[in-house]
Amino acid sequence: MQAVTVRVPAKVNLALTVGPPREDGFHGLATIFHAVNLTDDVTVEPASSWSCTVTGPDAARVPTDDSNLAVKAAKRLARSFPEIGPMRITIDKSIPVAGGMAGGSADAAATLVAVDALFDLGISRKRLLGYAARLGSDVPFALVGGTALGSGRGEELAPVLGGGSYEWVFALQREGLSTPQVYAECDRLRADRAVPVPMVSEEMMTALRGGDVHALAEHLHNDLQDAAIALRPTLRDTLETGLEEGALAAVVSGSGPTCAFLCENRSGALDLMVALNAAKVADDIVRASGPHPGAKVTSHG
Ligand code: C5P
Repeated sequence: MQAVTVRVPAKVNLALTVGPPREDGFHGLATIFHAVNLTDDVTVEPASSWSCTVTGPDAARVPTDDSNLAVKAAKRLARSFPEIGPMRITIDKSIPVAGGMAGGSADAAATLVAVDALFDLGISRKRLLGYAARLGSDVPFALVGGTALGSGRGEELAPVLGGGSYEWVFALQREGLSTPQVYAECDRLRADRAVPVPMVSEEMMTALRGGDVHALAEHLHNDLQDAAIALRPTLRDTLETGLEEGALAAVVSGSGPTCAFLCENRSGALDLMVALNAAKVADDIVRASGPHPGAKVTSHG
C-alpha cells in the first residue's frame, strides 16, 4: 500500500436546461454531460497527517484546506471506514479552475476511486456514486465519464450511446465565475417568465445517437449562457470570434467562463486554436476530444 494515481476528465455540457430554483436551493436540470481528455491526476498515499498539494499552472488558485472537494471526499471515506488513516493528496491540475468544467468535482471523484483502491475497500459502484452525489452535483459524472444524460440536480445519470467522437477547442479565462452566482443571475434574468420543465431535445439525442457532428452543432444549448455573459460581457465576443473563425458551434461550458467550440475535425480544431490565440479573446486556448472515460486508476505502486 504505497500510492494510487487516478486520472479524471473535465466535462462540457452539450445541453444544459435549468428549471426554477428548488426548495433546497438547487435547480432541477436536464443536461448532457460529455467528458473530454482534459484531465487531472490525483495521487493518494497513506501519511502520518492529512495534507493536500496542488501542482500545475493554476495551482495557486486551488485551496488545499478542507474546502477542497478532494480533501472532503477522502475525509468522508475516512469517517465511514475507521481502519483508514490520514492521507497525502496530490492533485496535478490541468482542468481549468472555476471554469465551468467541473475540475473540483473531478478531483473529488478521482479521490473516491483512489482511496477505494489504495485501502482495498471494495466499495460497490452504487455506493461510490452515492458518496459522489453527496459531495456535489457533478461528481457522479466524473466517475462515469463518456456522454450521459443528467437529471435531478445533475447527479442522476443515464449513459447516452452513440458512436461519435468530437473535437473541441476551449477558450479559458484566468478569472473564474462563481457557480451559485451564475445560477442566481439566471433566476434573476428569468424572474418575469414561467420557466419550463427542463428537458433535453429529441433532436439532440438523435444527433448524439447518430454521432453526427453537424446535427450536434445545431443543438448545442446552455440555459446558463446568458447569465454567464451578463456577469462577464466579454464572453459574447469570445463566442462570436470562434464562430467567425470556423467553429461549427460555440457555447459557454456549464456555468462558465470557459467557452467551448465544436469543430468539424482535428485539423479544424488546430486552425481554430491558432486563430483564437491570435485574436487574444482568452487567457489560454486548449484543444481536447471527447468522449473520454471517467475516473480510472493509472498507477498503483
Ligand atoms: O452541487 P454543487 O456543490 O456543485 O453546486 C454548487 C452550487 O451550484 C450550488 O450551491 C447551487 O448554488 C448551484 N447549483 C444549482 N443547481 C444545480 C447544481 C448546482 O443551483 N443543479
